[in-house]
Amino acid sequence: MRGALILLAPLAGATFLASRYDLDDCPGYIASNIKQLGQRLTADLSLAGDACNTYGSDLLDLKLLVEGQSENRLHVLIYDADEEVYQVPESVVPRPECEKEPKDSQLRFDYEENPFSFRVLRGEEVLFDTSDTNLIFQSQYLNIRTWLPNEPNLYGLGEHSDSLRLPTTNYTRTLWNRDAYGIPSETNLYGAHPVYIDHRGKKGTHGVFLLSSNGMDIKIDKTDDSRQYLEYHTLGGVLDFYFLAGPTPKEVSVQYSEVVGLPAMQSYWTFGYHNCRYGYQDVFEVAEVVYNYSQARIPLETMWTDIDYMQGRRVFTLDEERFPLDKMRELVSHLHKHEQHYIVMVDPAISHSDNEAFNTGSEQGVFLYRDYEQNELYQGAVWPGVTVYPDWFHTDTQCYWNGEFERFFNRDDGVDIDGLWIDMNEASNFCPYPCTNPAEYAENNNLPPPPPPVRPPPRRLPGFPANFQPGSSSPSSNHTKRSELIHETQNINKRISRNVTTKRIGLAYRDLINPAYQIANVAGSLSNKTIDTDIIHAGDGYAEYDTHNLYGTMMGAASRKAMLQRRPGVRPLVITRSTFAGAGAQVGHWLGDNVSQWDKYRVSIAQMLAFASIFQVPMVGTDVCGFAGNTTEELCARWAMLGGFYPFFRNHNEFGSVAQEFYRWPIVAQAARKIIDIRYRLLDYLYTSFHKQTVTGIPFLQPLFYVYPEDEKTFGNELQFFYGDALLVSPVVGEGEDSVQAYFPKDVFYDWFTGAVVPGGGVRTLSDVGLTDIPIHVRGGRIIPLRVKSSQTTTELRKRGFEPLIAPGADGTASGELYLDDGESIEARAAEIRFEFVQGTLKVLGKFGYHPTVAVEAVTILGQGRRRDGRHRVTMKVQIELTGPTEVKL
Ligand code: NOJ
Repeated sequence: MRGALILLAPLAGATFLASRYDLDDCPGYIASNIKQLGQRLTADLSLAGDACNTYGSDLLDLKLLVEGQSENRLHVLIYDADEEVYQVPESVVPRPECEKEPKDSQLRFDYEENPFSFRVLRGEEVLFDTSDTNLIFQSQYLNIRTWLPNEPNLYGLGEHSDSLRLPTTNYTRTLWNRDAYGIPSETNLYGAHPVYIDHRGKKGTHGVFLLSSNGMDIKIDKTDDSRQYLEYHTLGGVLDFYFLAGPTPKEVSVQYSEVVGLPAMQSYWTFGYHNCRYGYQDVFEVAEVVYNYSQARIPLETMWTDIDYMQGRRVFTLDEERFPLDKMRELVSHLHKHEQHYIVMVDPAISHSDNEAFNTGSEQGVFLYRDYEQNELYQGAVWPGVTVYPDWFHTDTQCYWNGEFERFFNRDDGVDIDGLWIDMNEASNFCPYPCTNPAEYAENNNLPPPPPPVRPPPRRLPGFPANFQPGSSSPSSNHTKRSELIHETQNINKRISRNVTTKRIGLAYRDLINPAYQIANVAGSLSNKTIDTDIIHAGDGYAEYDTHNLYGTMMGAASRKAMLQRRPGVRPLVITRSTFAGAGAQVGHWLGDNVSQWDKYRVSIAQMLAFASIFQVPMVGTDVCGFAGNTTEELCARWAMLGGFYPFFRNHNEFGSVAQEFYRWPIVAQAARKIIDIRYRLLDYLYTSFHKQTVTGIPFLQPLFYVYPEDEKTFGNELQFFYGDALLVSPVVGEGEDSVQAYFPKDVFYDWFTGAVVPGGGVRTLSDVGLTDIPIHVRGGRIIPLRVKSSQTTTELRKRGFEPLIAPGADGTASGELYLDDGESIEARAAEIRFEFVQGTLKVLGKFGYHPTVAVEAVTILGQGRRRDGRHRVTMKVQIELTGPTEVKL
């Protein structure tokens, strides 16, 4: 029966009953009415005995749906027969498109009828096996457990700051998005990605995705008799599993992207270097930083401004004294004139005060209500004091959000941003539960804090307009008033159904605040420091209890649309803090409030790899040099070098911490110049590899086991990584160190700097790695499309010619790709060029739908005999137009 999706045969093998004190008594379910048609099986599941009602009421009748959706994807859905139980809305996470029913499948599903359990197999390999314990499906608690091989290699289940390969003993991953200052390990952080990869080396790799936005604990542990398992404990929802057959890690990533969507392509400029900090006092200080970067000749592509620009920290307002509109516009036009970009922050929480964003939103009824009938808005306390929160489920919220963007970020008379930063969208609420008096909380906690005193006029900044100093600004009244804009007519105060049955499933009432099962949310109760979980959203009446983990992703989607409406057809950069599975299709992510510490520097590699390769959010990076606390010169230099290999490369720092712009220390400035030079020369390689991920799902950043899945020494390696499939990066990882114990899988490698061959197959000590160095090795067999020279901006960079870097493999050949387009359009004409190097000839093949203004001007071959300059590389001048296929004898 190999290849058949569904076997009706009973499960073979013994079943073991491990003791789980209070869950043991649950009777499980009996399968009946089993129907199979092609790759689809349905069954009824009925409770097999007396209800155990452990953490809620057992549901009596369930349904099972199994679908072989493609040759390598099996969908298993266990849901309530009445279809009352919450399921993740398709409007938020669209389901994979219906494909023609596959003839064959790599995955098999078989099951036991009484009590019901199931297994998923690939060939003889059992990938998932729930036969140990009875399925529990209650009104507020679901439990299902699978066996795993001993000492499994599991990755994923983010967001977390633990090891990339997850611990396997007494380990709990809690998914409940929260404002996680300091990103402590073994806690729930900002995002929820309930997907894991189970890598079994030669036996293959598979993925398991549980599409659930409910709060959950996933426990990985061993039974008393040392058998390994993984167990889901969710607070509700249904069991909506997608099994991904692999059998390689890369294929699992691709298959996952087929479920949650391919990541969004980003504009070329977004891969430039970004500088940010919380606490710039005024627009003049921001300008001074821009100026200082240019003086230090450190290429600054994008300047950012945190909440400091806001009046009283209210979104969609400007502090008229410190960030007056005319000066902001001058700053932005200065940046644009110099081919630089500008980004500011927007938070979801809107100040509950007389301001336009609040007045418009409350008129339109798009905020969350505590009591809709009584017209009582739900209030929390965030930066500006008492706040309300947009309800992303309300059908008018998009229009409201678009309107605010149109008003405030208007190109003609607003702050003309190039990208957007969204924060605090877990959503964060400073006021602890129960937040009965947010005004009092705000008052006692100094919210909003008083603005800093106005500074004396800054020194004149050459290159900035002469009046670029305080006191000379005109009032901001030219800012377009909301009322002047014509918007789609809103059905103001329209009654939106708020379906209170959400609080009930069948006969069982749900306690939306204190469910009996408590997940290990480090913030304590579910509603603590966020929106109360008994708040009901507009439209279909979803409870915050079920949809909490979607809040940030929904804000991301709405913000992307609002940005697109400002610049139609142009790829919007939206960097968000809170994400859910599939968010990468809309946004990029920065890893939140890390700390200027070496452990956070190290773990950023694992975090970045998890997001980029497993969760399909490849536009990712952490705050370079560290956010909280004070960085040091050494840490900042090392972090600059590592950050040069984050897809999203931004220095960001907390209010009150020592300044850490890259020009602050000579050695850090030198490190930054050097790494930005390397990054920019490699930018088309990054752009090409990133683009490939956005059209195929093949991850651009990869842990070593993705590239060498059979090499066991790579499975736990999380301090080195592949940048694209050609570059192995091995940063120095500790304070006071200047060497790296780097692992080289069996393959041919070349030292990036000297071109010398480094044979693989073991650990090497790379020594004398100074503060402005980072070991980089090129994998044999690859060609990297370098630019001949770096630049101060990415716009300038695009005018540089190309210099393919050829790293011959063991057989002397090499190949590589180059993707080119206009750098920003969603629908772009493109060139997809392939370089092939065989027997001394470089062939240029592919599609040439976009003609760059520059040509290939040089070619470098690595691993050549040692030259007089001590290098093992030869560079030769050539002239190859990239307008059609050609070949050159080198
Ligand atoms: C929290 C964010 O994580 C951080 O990056 C930002 O600087 C502060 N909020 C202030 O907006």
